[in-house]
Amino acid sequence: MDLGIRGKVALVTGGARSLGKADCLALAAEGCKVAVLDLDPEGADLVAKQILADGGAARGYGCDIRDTGQVTEAVAAMERDSGPSTSASTTRASSTRSASSRTCATRTGS
Ligand SMILES: NC(=O)c1ccc[n+]([C@@H]2O[C@H](COP(=O)([O-])OP(=O)(O)OC[C@H]3O[C@@H](n4cnc5c(N)ncnc54)[C@H](O)[C@@H]3O)[C@@H](O)[C@H]2O)c1
Repeated sequence: MDLGIRGKVALVTGGARSLGKADCLALAAEGCKVAVLDLDPEGADLVAKQILADGGAARGYGCDIRDTGQVTEAVAAMERDSGPSTSASTTRASSTRSASSRTCATRTGS
């Protein structure tokens, strides 16, 4: 499939496992640079490594999306690493204290 998002930066929250991981792999297959955010930094790194091993581009970031400061920091780190490019976004993390899925960040072109 070609969704026309090749080269964009996709930020996925809760990307270390399950649905979020599947989103990361699908977005990488579409040619996105994937920023894998998760409470579990090692899990996020493992997903990023899997994408790199498959020839894609990705990086893992430890981040609790309930904490605005951490989200701001993770997005800044992502932009330092990947450049201030456009970003597709998806979200999968839910907090154990909150049932809702959250949108973490959506950026449009610069
Ligand atoms: N699995 C399903 O069939 C299904 C169906 C419909 C809806 N959902 C919803 O989709 C979401 C994800 O489901 P899943 O099965 O992939 O869940 P999961 O528990 O397997 O994975 C969630 C991931 O999010 C991370 N996470 C949790 N809280 C976080 C936080 N505060 N900050 C950053 N990362 C955090 C976890 O570490 C984990 O890697 C949930 O909200 C779930 O209710 C799941």
